[in-house]
Parts: sequence; C-alpha cells; structure tokens
Amino acid sequence: MISWAIARAFANIALVKYWGKREGAENLPATASISLAIDALKTVCKIERLDSGQDEIFINGAMAVGATSVRISKYLDFWRAAKLIDGHFLVTSENNFPTGAGLASSASGFAALAVALAAFSERKIAVKELSRLARVGSGSSARSITGGLSALPIGKNPSAKLMLDAESVPFGMVVMTVESAPKKIPSGQGMEMSRNSSPYYNTWLKQAQADYEAMTQAIRTMDFAKIGEIAESNALVMHTCMIAGRPPLLYWSGKTIEIIKAVWKWRSEGLQVYFTVDAGPNVILIARREDLNEVSRVAESMPGIQRIILGLPAGGSEILMRE
Ligand code: DP6
Repeated sequence: MISWAIARAFANIALVKYWGKREGAENLPATASISLAIDALKTVCKIERLDSGQDEIFINGAMAVGATSVRISKYLDFWRAAKLIDGHFLVTSENNFPTGAGLASSASGFAALAVALAAFSERKIAVKELSRLARVGSGSSARSITGGLSALPIGKNPSAKLMLDAESVPFGMVVMTVESAPKKIPSGQGMEMSRNSSPYYNTWLKQAQADYEAMTQAIRTMDFAKIGEIAESNALVMHTCMIAGRPPLLYWSGKTIEIIKAVWKWRSEGLQVYFTVDAGPNVILIARREDLNEVSRVAESMPGIQRIILGLPAGGSEILMRE
C-alpha cells in the first residue's frame, strides 16, 4: 500500500470545443472535441493518505473553499463510491498558470488528480478508463490524460483518444493572457446557460459536429491552414452561441477583440497565425513550430498584455513519484 503519489498533467486547449452537456451527471459532452496539450501549462498534484475522516484540499498553496472544495470532495466521493479507493486524502495541487481564468486549469487539475488517485487503487486502471474517470471531474480533462492531439467523442461514456503524439505535432501555441482573475461563471454553468436559452444552441451543435469531422481530416493530411481556419471559426461560433443567450454570456474583454483583430492583420501581412479563445478573455495563438518565436515577438509588441506564454505540444498525464 502506498502512502503518497505525485502526478503531473498538462492543460489542453481545444481546437474544436466541447461546449454543452447531455443529460446526466458525468459530464457527457454534447459536442465532440479535439485539443492540443501544452507543455507550459502544467499541474502537479500530490495525494497523501490521511488517517482522519475528512479530505483536505489545497490549491496553489491555499486551502480550497466554497464551490471548488465541494467539487473536489464530491469527486473523491465518486472514486470511493466506485470502490476504486478508500479512506481520505490530503490533496495538494499546484498550477504554474492562472487558475480558473479560461486557461483549462480544470483540465490539467482533474487529470493530475485522477492519475494520482489511480495510484492508490487496488485495481489496475487502463488509460481509457482513466480518461473516463477524469472526464467525470471535468469534461476537458479526459483529453489531458492522453495528451498530444486528442479527440473526445460524444457517446455513452466517452474517453479521449490520442490522434497524434506530441513529438509529431508540427505546431504549438502562444497564450496571451489579458486577465488572470478567476472567471465569475464557470464553464459548466455557462454551458447550461447556452443550452437553456441560446437561440443558436442547436446550430452550434450541428456546426461543432461538422468542424470535428473537418478537423479530423485536416489533421490526417496535416493541412495547417485548414486546422487554423476551422479552430478560429469554431471558437467564434461557440462564443456567438453564448453571447446570444438570455442572459448573455460574454467572456471577452476589449483586449480580446483587439488581439483577434491583430491576428487577422498579422495574417494578412503573411504571418501564418490563427487564434482560439476558451471560456475566458485570454487569447491563444496557434502557429507552426518554426513560427512560434516570431509569433511571440509580434504578440509582445502589443500593449496591455499581461503574460505571453509559449507552449509546445505536451504528452499525457503521468505519475512522477510514489512511495
Ligand atoms: C471552452 O471541461 O471546464 O474550454 O466539464 O464543466 O468541467 P466541465 O467543463 P470544462 O469546459 C471546457 C470548455 C472549453 C472548451 C474545451 O476545452 O473543449
């Protein structure tokens, strides 16, 4: 029996987004998604067995409170109810990037937590099952288990599949952060708002499926311009869907729009760069590996940006140490 385990997971940024859930409690996506894991966005999670009857959870050095604490405790309850683990744990999770600000911290957070918990299980848990288990914590984290370019289909109890390993992916990302405070409306709640009230929700579901199929094909032939075009359009349709809800959900700031316009200008001047935006105001640029330094340089030339983070494709989640 081990007493502690440390796991590492990388966040992923979707090129075709998961936005919307089907009925049920286990984060069953209403849209199939495809993402790239990013080496610069990392969570390291340590789990230690406790003798007490209660879990203790620390995130980025502070004790988790409120909704975050409830969400993680419930997730541990789910593992206990499934008889995968027993007892209680001290969870210490550290991100090297802003938490809850639309940079997929729940993806790497729950992936690292699931991998660390699996180390305590009596049963050997295969990658496919681990991806499903991570999904129950946060839908997007299913894709951080497999890393690289991964796809999460829709279906009964879906798990992510690796499409292309990190080393073979010829492009990376440059994250431009404009705000680092946690967002007021978490993704799960935002998805419900879109489903309940956006007149474009069904259009989004249809377009997301078409984008998923087109993206799969573009990755197969590694047509970078197509990958970029689909990613950009997919993000814009998703945000259009949420902005059109009642009440509207607008994650962008003025800077988000400035960056989007700058990307279009840079591209018209010959730089092969595309963007995507998750559920937050930060913009993520997509560029070929050989163009990443130039793209970072032009990104740095924009005033009012908080941080520029250059990210290369990263692998799946793994245990770093255990004892
Ligand atoms: C816009 O995975 O954070 O980043 O399943 O409720 O935890 P929950 O949602 P989450 O949603 C991710 C939304 C997104 C798109 C994506 O990563 O595919």
